[in-house]
Amino acid sequence: MSPITTSRHGDVLVITSNNPPVNALGHAVRDGLVKGIEEANGDDSVKAVVIIGEGQTFFAGADISEFGTPKSFEYPALPQVVDIIENCTKPVVAAIHGTALGGGLEVALASHYRVAVPSAKLGVPEVKLGLLPGAGGTQRLPRVAGVGKALEMASTGNPIGAQEAYDVGLVDRLIEGDLLPHAVAFAEEVKDNRPLAKSSERDEKLAEARDNPGLFDEFRKANARKFRGFDAPEYNIRCIEAAVAKPYAEGVLAERQMFMELMSGTQAKAQQYFFFSERKAAKIDGVPEGTAPREIKKVGVIGAGTMGGGISMNFLSAGIPVTIVEMQQDALDRGTGIMLKNYQATAAKGRMTEAQVGQAMGLLTPTLKLEDLADCDLVIEAVFENMDVKKEIFGKLDGICKPGAILASNTSYLDIDEIAASTSRPQDVVGLHFFSPANVMKLLEVVRGAKTAPDVLVTAMQLAKKIKKVAVVAGVCYGFIGNRMLIPRQMEAMKLLLEGATPAQIDKVHVDFGMPMGPFQMSDLAGVDIGWHRDPNRIENIRDALCAVDRWGQKKGAGFYDYDEKRRPSPSPVVQNIIEDFRAKAGVTAREVSEQEIVERTLYTMVNEGALILEGGFAQRASDIDVVWVYGYGWPVYRGGPMFWADTEGLAKIVEGLERNGFEVAQLLRDKATAKEKLSKV
Ligand code: 3HC
Repeated sequence: MSPITTSRHGDVLVITSNNPPVNALGHAVRDGLVKGIEEANGDDSVKAVVIIGEGQTFFAGADISEFGTPKSFEYPALPQVVDIIENCTKPVVAAIHGTALGGGLEVALASHYRVAVPSAKLGVPEVKLGLLPGAGGTQRLPRVAGVGKALEMASTGNPIGAQEAYDVGLVDRLIEGDLLPHAVAFAEEVKDNRPLAKSSERDEKLAEARDNPGLFDEFRKANARKFRGFDAPEYNIRCIEAAVAKPYAEGVLAERQMFMELMSGTQAKAQQYFFFSERKAAKIDGVPEGTAPREIKKVGVIGAGTMGGGISMNFLSAGIPVTIVEMQQDALDRGTGIMLKNYQATAAKGRMTEAQVGQAMGLLTPTLKLEDLADCDLVIEAVFENMDVKKEIFGKLDGICKPGAILASNTSYLDIDEIAASTSRPQDVVGLHFFSPANVMKLLEVVRGAKTAPDVLVTAMQLAKKIKKVAVVAGVCYGFIGNRMLIPRQMEAMKLLLEGATPAQIDKVHVDFGMPMGPFQMSDLAGVDIGWHRDPNRIENIRDALCAVDRWGQKKGAGFYDYDEKRRPSPSPVVQNIIEDFRAKAGVTAREVSEQEIVERTLYTMVNEGALILEGGFAQRASDIDVVWVYGYGWPVYRGGPMFWADTEGLAKIVEGLERNGFEVAQLLRDKATAKEKLSKV
């Protein structure tokens, strides 16, 4: 049965799409749309058309799962569909609720009018899939919404709300109340309007940009940092430039050509792989279907430091009350004060109102008594990394918390099973590893203990979505997924220093690769002293030597780099001397270290560790590891994540590189390389 049906409302033909869950524009939908327009064209009694989506949304875009298959090109392809809509002989009204995204917005742009409910969102997120709107979107959007707005929407992929869309002329009317009857009434109003309002023929908003040719380069310059390494934003900009410089017919050809170029590139494949990876991460193996989550109405957080404060803010922002516990009043005041300051900073940027700040802080109950957590449905411990302290806290929570409460630890390394064993209810214990700053970073590692109950896991995954995190399930091993893979990278980076590389040289390889920062920049930012034994007389490695002379990183103005008062780094002669001292003691003569060697020893080793994690069953699937690295550590999404990147680099090459450098290769990696299979498919 076709997902498209038509019905008559007076002299208006309503074309309804019902293709759950998001009305993606797969072949059957496109075919049905064309047939609907043909029906309108062929029936004199039809005076206007409304296109509307059933369920949660208008069309959320092309069907991404069709990409790379013949289906996506089969007649009618999306560029043909939108032209057929625009050339309909009767006025077509797109009635938008939910999201009109990508191809969905292109359908709306090809319609002669657009009406939307106030909660609707409109956007062209193709850039996030390494693409550009390939069905006339880059040509019609600037004509309808203006060049500046089109540039911003296409190159960032961020949608805008219906009100803003109305303000820029992308929506013709905002509909309060039932969408369909109002859209039909609107269609009645415009049914006699001629000539038909074709977006492709509009010119007035392009004229503005023709008077300001520097606009595009200014935009490139202003966003250079954000777009670094990505191909797609630049292609989107070029298409909009073409919209301004060329007639519509030529502009769409340029768009088509650039779309195909992007589509055949590695970045688009990586970003599309990542889109599905992110969604797959929410699926938990071995949990019975239909497992109901526990209800979380109130959360407790132990520790009001950086982590505890950040974690609490996630729940407060989602409208969930939080009781936060500290041992000393001044630490409690300091912690809650920082939370308020953070909220106020967000409000100052216009991203929340003062009233919302008040609302969020109003949901916070600070206390010095652990007993006040008795009525919480979930308690998250976020104190410092010490097993004895954590066990003591969990032992106490066992006596305080109500039955069925979930007891979580935010530990980044420690054994959740050992922590769980200090309670009489290990089934209720889980790891919830947030990444710093916890109110900003999207990743949440959900650490599944040996006895963690299925409904606890389901609750954690659902709650993650509610607080706008992407959750990945990890098994119990030292450092779980993310930090475990960091270990070989940091170890090799330190060894390379001794052998002749500099911090700046190693960091540059990582930044050029697309990481936000290299291993030493990261260490300086996080604190060189994290995990240090705190004995300045015990100097066993370069890190100990740095810590002993107070070079603890950015917070001290000195770490692997020197920092000026604006926190700008420069290479440090002191660090160079320390490194040379160590070389002398170890009898090592500095040698030239190549970029390739840095890649092999600090990135191939991460791939190897990822393969070991998979082999050990500590990650459910390779794509979960990629989600951890993209959202937790800023691995460039255009490289898909370490596992996907390994496949593009070539597994045989990685095995060879690891062997040449004397590493033991994970069996899984070796097997996949031999079988010429992909690691990212595991
Ligand atoms: N194609 C195929 N499947 C899609 C899809 C799409 N465009 N959009 C979403 N889905 C699937 C998801 O994979 C998921 O499947 P699952 O349940 O099997 O895991 C399901 O629909 C529900 O998606 P979400 O979990 O993401 O649901 P949310 O309600 O959280 O979000 C959404 C809905 C905002 C629409 C979000 O899914 C989204 O952003 N989708 C992608 C939109 C997009 O990128 N559109 C542009 C496509 S490219 C294009 O149009 C090219 C054209 O210019 C030629």
